[in-house]
Amino acid sequence: PLTTTGELVARAAASRSAIAAFNIITLEHVEAVIAGAETAGSPVVLQVSENAVRFRYGRLLPLARAAVAAAERATVPVALHLDHVQSDALLRQAPAAGFSSVMYDAARLPYQENLAATRAAADWAHAQGLWIEAELGEVGGKDGAPPLDPHAPGARTDPAGARAFVTEAGVDALAVAIGSSHAMTTRTAVLDHALLARLSGAVGVPLVLHGSSGVPDGELTAAVGGGITKVNVGTALNIAMTCAIRDFLAAHPEAVDSRRYLAVGRAAMAEAVTRIIKVLS
Ligand code: G3H
Ligand code: ZN
Repeated sequence: PLTTTGELVARAAASRSAIAAFNIITLEHVEAVIAGAETAGSPVVLQVSENAVRFRYGRLLPLARAAVAAAERATVPVALHLDHVQSDALLRQAPAAGFSSVMYDAARLPYQENLAATRAAADWAHAQGLWIEAELGEVGGKDGAPPLDPHAPGARTDPAGARAFVTEAGVDALAVAIGSSHAMTTRTAVLDHALLARLSGAVGVPLVLHGSSGVPDGELTAAVGGGITKVNVGTALNIAMTCAIRDFLAAHPEAVDSRRYLAVGRAAMAEAVTRIIKVLS
């Protein structure tokens, strides 16, 4: 059934585990994430990034409607989350499209602008009953200079700054930079567990790990033990899908029916989903 991200994060926090949130791009991603979660017998979050909306000709609703329909029929609880939202116009589409949560990403802005934009987004989101996650760019960005990209490999979240940001912005969760970075195709990230311990003591809301595709299993398990409550995974599914399809097409040069290779790609994604969920629970 369709549930809310807030509910799944609260459940994960209570059991000191983490909820897995997978980025969906195609209908095959939707089906694979749900099938993989059903095999694991665990709830899951389907998340749609602003980038994915851009890929879908700028339209959120077709993929969102498919995701809602699939979630309603799932045998495990499934929530919908709008990921890395920079556009207020997209943010405002979330409730009507079936999303119970958003990640508002103003981390590219100088600190005061990020804080003001995030607080306004949080006020609006809460009035709509949405759960909201945010991200703090690296403090600095003074004199109008943009802050360093918090998704860059070397970026780190400062605990005291994070606490102040969360309190003042009034958000429900915070994405933290502790050593992972987006779109890694090797699982070689090394997390700063000492920093995570300080963050989890200081921040007071659930912490979210982004760029989790590049994080090895042992590091993920340790991060969950250290207070990460939501784990975002995107690239790992694209690797699973693309490699499986590439191998299939190389072995079957005569294949033209898209169902043949999409089925192979979907099955590979579902397997990856089950595997990752098990690492987190
Ligand atoms: O918000 C989405 C995640 O941070 C995905 O990152 O594609 O590196 O796994 P990833
Ligand atoms: Zn992310």
